[in-house]
Amino acid sequence: MLQTKKILLGISGSIAAYKSAPLVRLLIKAGAEVKVVMTPASKEFVSPLTLSTLSKNPVIADLSTNDAWSNHVMLGRWADMLLIAPLSCNSLAKMAHGLCDNLLSAVYLSATCPVMVAPAMDEDMWHHPATQNNINIIQSFGNIVIPVESGELASGLIGDGRMAEPETIIKKLEGFFLNSKQLAGKKVLVTAGPTYEAIDPVRFVGNHSSGKMGIAIANECQKRGAEVTLVLGPSSLQTIPRMHVIKVSSAQEMFEACTAAFETMDIAIMSAAVADYTPVTVATEKIKKNEAHFSIDLKKTKDILKHLGEVKRTGQLLVGFALETEDEKKYALKKMADKNADMIVLNSLKDAGAGFGFNTNKITIFDKSGREYNFDTKSKAAVAIDIINTLIKL
Ligand code: CTP
Repeated sequence: MLQTKKILLGISGSIAAYKSAPLVRLLIKAGAEVKVVMTPASKEFVSPLTLSTLSKNPVIADLSTNDAWSNHVMLGRWADMLLIAPLSCNSLAKMAHGLCDNLLSAVYLSATCPVMVAPAMDEDMWHHPATQNNINIIQSFGNIVIPVESGELASGLIGDGRMAEPETIIKKLEGFFLNSKQLAGKKVLVTAGPTYEAIDPVRFVGNHSSGKMGIAIANECQKRGAEVTLVLGPSSLQTIPRMHVIKVSSAQEMFEACTAAFETMDIAIMSAAVADYTPVTVATEKIKKNEAHFSIDLKKTKDILKHLGEVKRTGQLLVGFALETEDEKKYALKKMADKNADMIVLNSLKDAGAGFGFNTNKITIFDKSGREYNFDTKSKAAVAIDIINTLIKL
């Protein structure tokens, strides 16, 4: 699976850097072409000579050598994957916040290839909210994080934070390259986030959707090789670099963006929490609080999923979401039928850890041939994997 794959291995300063030598050996044995980029701190833990010998390529460590500039842009373009293992706490923070003070961070910021990281640090550093926040940030950029393992740490303590073993990293890479072709050549439309329905120039009717689930789905589709168009309602979240994102505000704008794009799509996944009603009129000036009682006349918005279900061609796949608080299965199946969707993803607000704002979700999927798939509560990134795996089975 790694035969002829070009792997750019970034090594940062962590005691786990000693595992880079067996990792390079395994990569070479698996048929990969390997180039190594080291941070200055990593050289304290493993010798560049060892790595250049094992990788059969000179190690690159400086932004310039002998007055020549190291072309970090071309390195990121050369690689099929930038693998950073070990990823230290410091290098993680730089990735999350865009700091660029060594060759590895310059390569990372300019890389157009996928990026996979294997963090390694002491348990307390790993569990610190700053570190966990940084992990969430780099995941939201589309980077793949190989979970840390639990065991004996350099400090002598036992706990979480060990870098995944080289064999595990190889399996993750193989899995990535295997999956990356599953949606190759497919065009996927994803909606995400809430919509805002203007009442006047300063107020709107909206909902608590963050856009996390839809962005995770768009990210997963891109990782599987699809060409993704993300139609995103107002969301404060980062979107994935190099993804085609159409930012919209209202349900009408989302409807227009989706109907314009749908014709050429193979798959459409409607995960946005679209407002069902919108004000009949929008005041041109800020409404003053002159009345003791105040009401807004609302009219129905256009149902995007239903419309796409009506114009869907043979071969196009349509996925809807159903967020329910009662009789969940009944309503989800009714939505799938009424809107002519091929698959519906149900999340119940009754499930702990599911719904708006959480980093986790718990879903059940129904497909139009009557199959039902139940899943545990998982991170939204893991839920996105389950959704796309189930979609691929269709
Ligand atoms: N949806 C849509 N356009 C709308 C409303 C909903 O595309 N104007 C889509 C959502 O993105 C989701 C699915 O329809 O994929 C179901 O949304 P949901 O809010 O659960 O159901 P509704 O159809 O709005 O019905 P109700 O609010 O009555 O449950």
